[in-house]
Amino acid sequence: MFETQFKDAMGRVGRLYVRGRTVETPLIFPVINPNIDLITPGELQGMGFEGVITNSYIIYRNEPLRGKALKSGVSGLLGFDGVVMTDSGSYQLYQYGSVEVSPEEIVRFQENIKSDIGIILDIPTPPDAGHARAKADLEETIRRAKAAAHLKRDMLLGGTVQGSTHLDLREESAKAMADLDFDIYPIGGVVPLMESYRFSDLARIIIHVKRHLPPHKPVHLFGAGHPMMLALAVALGCDLFDSAAYSLYAREGRYLTTTGTLKLSEMRTLPCQCQVCSEHTIDELRASPEKTRLLALHNLHVTKEEIDTIKEAVHDGSLWELVEMRCRAHPNLLEALRILRDYPLEDYEPLTKPSAFFYTGPESLHRPEVKRHRERLKRITTSAKTLVLLSKQDGDSPGRTGSNREYHLCYLSPVFGIIPTEIEEVYPLAQHLYPRILDEPQRSMMKRAVKEYSKGFSRVLIDRALQDWGIEGEVLENLEIEADTEVKMKALADYQFGAGAGEVLFKGCRGRYARTGRLRHIFDGETLVATVRASDGIIVPALEGARRLLRLPWPRNRVVVEDEEVCRFVREGKSLFAKFITDCDPEIVPGSEVLVVDREDRLVNWGRAALDARELIAFKRGVGVKTRGSMANDESPVSS
Ligand code: GUN
Ligand code: ZN
Repeated sequence: MFETQFKDAMGRVGRLYVRGRTVETPLIFPVINPNIDLITPGELQGMGFEGVITNSYIIYRNEPLRGKALKSGVSGLLGFDGVVMTDSGSYQLYQYGSVEVSPEEIVRFQENIKSDIGIILDIPTPPDAGHARAKADLEETIRRAKAAAHLKRDMLLGGTVQGSTHLDLREESAKAMADLDFDIYPIGGVVPLMESYRFSDLARIIIHVKRHLPPHKPVHLFGAGHPMMLALAVALGCDLFDSAAYSLYAREGRYLTTTGTLKLSEMRTLPCQCQVCSEHTIDELRASPEKTRLLALHNLHVTKEEIDTIKEAVHDGSLWELVEMRCRAHPNLLEALRILRDYPLEDYEPLTKPSAFFYTGPESLHRPEVKRHRERLKRITTSAKTLVLLSKQDGDSPGRTGSNREYHLCYLSPVFGIIPTEIEEVYPLAQHLYPRILDEPQRSMMKRAVKEYSKGFSRVLIDRALQDWGIEGEVLENLEIEADTEVKMKALADYQFGAGAGEVLFKGCRGRYARTGRLRHIFDGETLVATVRASDGIIVPALEGARRLLRLPWPRNRVVVEDEEVCRFVREGKSLFAKFITDCDPEIVPGSEVLVVDREDRLVNWGRAALDARELIAFKRGVGVKTRGSMANDESPVSS
């Protein structure tokens, strides 16, 4: 069982329940060879690693190890008191072309040695294999997966996705595995891609595979352990990792960092504060008879530290900033970052985050938040004939000047392009930072944005700063334009809930402004319809607002719960757990304000979605919608 706690990009901090234990993801399992004891399992535990992975085939083939594992379990054999994952011998199959165990036998064996998470004996096909071979291998893997799925008892079982570098086969593989209800979904056959730094091929594979895997199951990236690529892999939706990198690199005298690999023989200092690096000078480390072991400890330390850094980034909403930083460590990582622009990742991106959007270079112009803004901008319509474009100046206070029925006032952002003043406080439009010296991609993006957006207007006025940015238009002189609250309210609603929402939600309403000059409460007569949240400009409907939103056509903004007992609880103000959700609006993302409805489309409650649309339907654990109201005393259920 798996549950999500925090989300950012497609990444998540989650909880995985394994045989009575709970571990937090993203989680990395250091590889332990049961024969070689470079770092002891006890040491790994002491460093805070909650899981290890070992090879069940090595144990199976070795009489004394096998006897001990069958007697005291694999965790007893290793002396590791945590989650033990076992691999199946696929890697040996890949290396030597065959293994001396049947696919069924090795799954049974993993179960018998009480592995917590076992893996099927999949066939890793190397990158760039011919399509026919990759397909034949895949068919055999799928056949084995079907046979293995029946063998499972209480061990969690991983059904590995293969397909080489053929994206069609990767998708086919993901779909076939998804149908088999495995507990975890490893992505296999990617070690050679990582060894040769083919990160863009890797990123494509992850994205194509993730699309078809059940969103409520953890995804494991086989053989990923270099700390410089973990942030990217998490952002694309990988939850579990295993790596022998810490020891393989140590044996070659290599020192891992989050920005690449250094050779100990060529270094001058130890730029790290782990125990090894702070207790040794570089000369001592080089001369130590324990050099390999000490390097391995350092390598483990940076890997663990990077996982913790990634978790923090997911929690505070700065995962993309971390990814953009890490992807500048190597041109091939930067290439991987650049291919992301080809994919609609905005379908999964949280609506709002606790931290600001930082522009770190031209790649930021293609971030999901930016693409979403461009799409949602089309939802706003105006009756104005004159477009006024302003550069945002530090210290401009919101509220007083703004769009009305004659003038459509917009800021031109060097990151988001056109930002109508109506929505200027909405995250991340008011929460983005960029250097004052613009780069060429920003300039051309702004020109394109203005050209496109100006189309519907008969006149375009611009301020002087925009002229300096090379934007064309009539320069405006001291035009005082008073904001129209109704225009603002409607645009806010359309932008957040979809075209037409402003009309049903705020027709005939009036706004009340806070002392800061920001629109805060929206009333119809004495009835509160909605609040505009100060921190991110998101409209939070009150009961009346939720009722009105229900007039928008099905399935917009809705989350459906059919069970009547559950409806009763949710109506009283309890949160809605994901496992009870039967259907929802496919456009919901984490942080969306949604309506909870019953099977007759009556309002049960309303609140904030914790997950995206696919996840809301799939997850079996955890909160789906954190509800806001209580309708317990409401005698009149509302229908549309
Ligand atoms: N370890 C590294 N790559 C793979 C793979 O593709 N399959 C399995 N089972 N283990 C691996
Ligand atoms: Zn160190």
